Amino acid sequence: MTQDTLIVPVPDQGEGTRWWRDAVIYQVYVRSFADSGGDGVGDLPGVRSRLPYLAGLGVDALWLTPFYVSPMADFGYDVADYRDVDPLFGTLADARGLIADAHAHGLRIIVDVVPNHTSDRHAWFQAALAASPGSPERARYLFRDGRGPDGARPPNDWESVFGGPAWTRLPDGQWYLHLFAPEQPDLDWENPEVRAEFADILKFWLDLGADGFRVDVAHGMAKAPGLPDVGHADQVEMLGTAVLPYFDQDPVHDIHREWRRLLDSYGGERIAVAEAWAPTHERLADYTRPDELHQAFNFHYLTAPWEASGMRKVIEESLDAAGAVGAPATWVLSNHDVKRHVTRYGGGERGLRRARAAALLTLALPGSAYVYQGEELGLPEVLDLPAEFQQDPQRLRGEDAGRDGCRVPLPWEGEEPPFGFGGTASWLPIPTAWRDLTVAAQREDPDSMLALYHEALRLRHEHPALGDGGLRWLDGPTGTLVFVRETGGDGRLACAVNMSGRPARVPVRGTPLLASGPVHLENEHAELPPDTALWWDVEER
Ligand code: GLC
Repeated sequence: MTQDTLIVPVPDQGEGTRWWRDAVIYQVYVRSFADSGGDGVGDLPGVRSRLPYLAGLGVDALWLTPFYVSPMADFGYDVADYRDVDPLFGTLADARGLIADAHAHGLRIIVDVVPNHTSDRHAWFQAALAASPGSPERARYLFRDGRGPDGARPPNDWESVFGGPAWTRLPDGQWYLHLFAPEQPDLDWENPEVRAEFADILKFWLDLGADGFRVDVAHGMAKAPGLPDVGHADQVEMLGTAVLPYFDQDPVHDIHREWRRLLDSYGGERIAVAEAWAPTHERLADYTRPDELHQAFNFHYLTAPWEASGMRKVIEESLDAAGAVGAPATWVLSNHDVKRHVTRYGGGERGLRRARAAALLTLALPGSAYVYQGEELGLPEVLDLPAEFQQDPQRLRGEDAGRDGCRVPLPWEGEEPPFGFGGTASWLPIPTAWRDLTVAAQREDPDSMLALYHEALRLRHEHPALGDGGLRWLDGPTGTLVFVRETGGDGRLACAVNMSGRPARVPVRGTPLLASGPVHLENEHAELPPDTALWWDVEER
């Protein structure tokens, strides 16, 4: 075996366990995880009741999507009260109990914070509506006069991520900015009152025991001075690929530096992960400089097609960019905003095979990995949700844009929907075909996706070479990715993934540990079928 590239990220200089550098963080979409109240909507006591499942799966932390008081125009990403729990999801006592129980199970809790915008029902926005143009109440948001003689045209050409103009006009003639739905007015982060309020909100949850934050739209809080036009329509197509005056503006980093100081003032290595869409790997890595946030989601990896050379390039660029600022890379395949990867990778048997291989690839890469609830069950996107159930505001952007299909509740057990989710009918219907995908059904089957995740996570914890550290590429047949993880000390683990579409023969000198599908081993070689991955312990020679 020959080596060609050596990538070793610079380790962070921080103190402590640095748990977050290689943590596997499981995303709980609270609304769709487990329903204890029987109303068809998942809730905090539901999550609490399933902690043994999550601890047993072998993840290190949970990221809980927003459960705060909200009119749910964007399913909780429109927050009306940042310091309380929506009755739909439980009470503050439930949140406290969940955090305490999670800690007792050895799981850390990351909560979502939504700083770019509030709900239009937030007390501040209500006060802004009641106040007049130019008032301090309006100065917490981005209110502007319109263009044209009677101000009837929006102040600029910015478009909402959900489609249509990013501005809505009030009866008094002023417009307010909302980069998302009209029910999500953008805050003005140049206003010190906004900064102080959010510092206080962070402290509230840190005091309650939260181990960190997932920062929603972390690239959005700073807008270019003067709010200049973009000059293009179809801005949605430019998200994350081009520079826009409302995303990834340099001053946003001052906010993250302030937050980092706050996090560091608490014990226990509290962290923040940025949901940031940046045009390049380097711009994304800026969010994780040593004095900023700890991690940023790697959407470049999530959006990479199932193809070896492109995937390798994304992996190298991600490791290089994160390594250059001393941050851990992160690896994400799915979340509540994108089509589930079983479906993205082609769906059906092929999608499932690739998703199994992708799990081994993801969990073998250096850094921290995210698991979106249900990916451990191999759930596909639900593509045929009846229109009357579809509720996601993004669906208004056009056909196929809705995110309801990746938010269908989890099937836990039993023969019929809602498969032990709770109640008699879940808020989005669960396909009857998921009978074979329930947690209970997969627990019985050693070849299930659930069994694969269990074993991979167990090995990831036990094997000294996995988690944080470096990666060395090995030669492999065209269309394959082959690399070795090593610590320099005890043990090396190699991973091969066949993305070529044909069987591939890969040299394997060592002991096979885990395969995503049937692999034939002979004469120090493995014959990998298409879309199959293998981990092995490398023999020292
Ligand atoms: C983030 C969330 C998404 C939400 C949006 C607006 O992208 O992940 O679900 O719609 O922010 O808050």
